[in-house]
Amino acid sequence: MDDRVSTQLLNWYDRNARSLPWRALPGEKAPDPYRVWLSEVMLQQTTVAAVKPYFQKFTQKWPTVQDLAAASDEDVMAAWAGLGYYSRARNLAKCAREVAEIGGFPENEAALLKLPGLGAYTAAAVAAIAFGKRAVVVDANVERVVARLFAITEPLPAARKVIREATDTITPTERSGDFAQAMMDLGATICTVRDPKCLLCPLSVDCRAKEAGDPTELPKKAPK
Ligand code: ADE
Ligand code: SF4
Repeated sequence: MDDRVSTQLLNWYDRNARSLPWRALPGEKAPDPYRVWLSEVMLQQTTVAAVKPYFQKFTQKWPTVQDLAAASDEDVMAAWAGLGYYSRARNLAKCAREVAEIGGFPENEAALLKLPGLGAYTAAAVAAIAFGKRAVVVDANVERVVARLFAITEPLPAARKVIREATDTITPTERSGDFAQAMMDLGATICTVRDPKCLLCPLSVDCRAKEAGDPTELPKKAPK
């Protein structure tokens, strides 16, 4: 099913991608790595709706990573106020200075992972979305879609390893950034936590949870 999943999903994305300020317009070349990085850092613990105005504010104030690198910590912290998880803002300024110093964002996942504030998710997302590298990008939306698609019944967080491996098997070599964002959009709009709209889903023919009857049972969570 591997190829069919990515083909179906990318076709769906071409017709249904959400229009978000950090994405390239259809037909445009890849988006600016600075904008991809900034948006992915903001989106780590914050919803798309909450991030949008902050993203606009930051990119108006600091249109390039060099501009952000030249800003004071105080100004960055002040602009971040309200977004929460303030260590992200401290790392943001630090990372911008490091990137400005080396003359731009590195293109591969391993090098990205070494930058301040970039974890496995952000490094993979930037490598795939901004640089067109094949990378396995797993956030909470992807986790839910994949757990359902493969009917992975092991509870989170232990299931993360097998979910990642399953995501790897369906990630295409080409357009892996679009593939990742398509999974996120599918999770946000179709394969939602409480109300999966399987009748509208481009992956329904391959979905084991749909076949089993009640996708909302997945992913399972270990009792706290
Ligand atoms: N959540 C995190 N990154 C995202 C992206 N690039 N598109 C949509 N939702 C996201
Ligand atoms: Fe989610 Fe339903 Fe699509 Fe399966 S068929 S991925 S459960 S929306």
